Amino acid sequence: MKAINEFTITDAVLEQMSTTANPRLKEIMAVLVKHLHDFAREVDLTPEEWLDAIKFLTAVGQACTPFRQEFILLSDTLGLSSLVNAMHDRRAVEDGTKSSLLGPFYRQDAPDMELGQSITTKSKGTEICLYGRVVNSHGQGIPNAIVQIWQPDDEGWYDLQKNDPKEMDLRGKFRTDTQGNYYLRAIAPKGYMIPMDGPVGDMIRAQGRHGYRPAHIHFLVGAPGHRECVTAIYLAGDDHIDSDTVFGVTESLVTEPKLDPASPFPRIPSIRFDFTLAAERDAMSGRVGADPSQIVKKTA
Ligand code: BEZ
Ligand code: FE
Repeated sequence: MKAINEFTITDAVLEQMSTTANPRLKEIMAVLVKHLHDFAREVDLTPEEWLDAIKFLTAVGQACTPFRQEFILLSDTLGLSSLVNAMHDRRAVEDGTKSSLLGPFYRQDAPDMELGQSITTKSKGTEICLYGRVVNSHGQGIPNAIVQIWQPDDEGWYDLQKNDPKEMDLRGKFRTDTQGNYYLRAIAPKGYMIPMDGPVGDMIRAQGRHGYRPAHIHFLVGAPGHRECVTAIYLAGDDHIDSDTVFGVTESLVTEPKLDPASPFPRIPSIRFDFTLAAERDAMSGRVGADPSQIVKKTA
């Protein structure tokens, strides 16, 4: 019998897991165990610290509901979601609009809307127009592409945080016209602190981080035969544009509203933003995240 000690334990675990039938699961679990063990050895993890980590992860799980996903928030604040997005973009067969975080406030059943409609049902704020085209990598418009949009209000709150979660505000689902155009009205969003009243907030405070996201508007754009694009546009000039707590900002996604005679709504400030969808290589989802209700099911 082999002696199990702090150095032989890793191989013992890998050997026992070597019977895993699924080759990808086998690879992922083997690398996870190697890094996890190396991590524990590197920091010389104590039993108290191990238990603190177990308590923290338990609290993260307990904070999850059909309307809140604390594990996604943890992944976001550790930079893991943005890392997975960047690797997903690198795997595309063509260049497209860069991905950005789906975040914890996406809801898949946002209302269908007509082009030109306002996504505002309750909130007040400075009206803006968002418009542009959804194109392929050759610049050709994609008709009938689905453009989903969601945003916080002018104080930085999402509908899920403010209202009865059954009521929706500042979200909608549009289809591009025959030329691939989309246009709609929204309000100027404000930056906000990520939800800080749970264990992830405790972690952020312990690390002395500010917890803010710069003002942004989320988009999920898809069309058959094309890679789904999960992204967001960020408003230039926001105080936190260079220090997003969840690392979602990339230069090509930064823009700002301005009066624009070419806008379908030239009297209000507009943002023109075109989305380029790469061809689809496989039917893999590009969503680093999900509607929380798809992970924790609603009861009754
Ligand atoms: C968001 O943009 O909705 C978001 C993303 C990550 C963490 C918290 C919020
Ligand atoms: Fe957001």
